[in-house]
Amino acid sequence: MIKVTYVAQDGTRTNIDADEGDSVMHAAVSNDVDGIVGECGGSMMCATCHCYVDDAWAEKVGPRSAGEDDMLEGAASEVTERSRLSCQIKLTPELDGLVVHLPEEQF
Ligand code: FES
Repeated sequence: MIKVTYVAQDGTRTNIDADEGDSVMHAAVSNDVDGIVGECGGSMMCATCHCYVDDAWAEKVGPRSAGEDDMLEGAASEVTERSRLSCQIKLTPELDGLVVHLPEEQF
């Protein structure tokens, strides 16, 4: 299992034990984490899985792809250098303990 922490705008932290190979989006949706919608199911067509990778994890998670850049142009909340589509972050053992922050809104 890989631990992921989702931090809401109000500071509420939700800790999830996810399966290796799962995405940060799917782990959130299947555990009813408010703030990640994942409307397209992970096919990079919606941007409702927008999240901000915590500074401490940015290097391990790596940069977003050009396709993510394109989709994030339609994101509801501010896009920063830490913005990612959480459906595109696959959970590996190296990401055990990952912390992501949730945007204000997804629509
Ligand atoms: S779930 Fe739709 S872009 Fe990530």
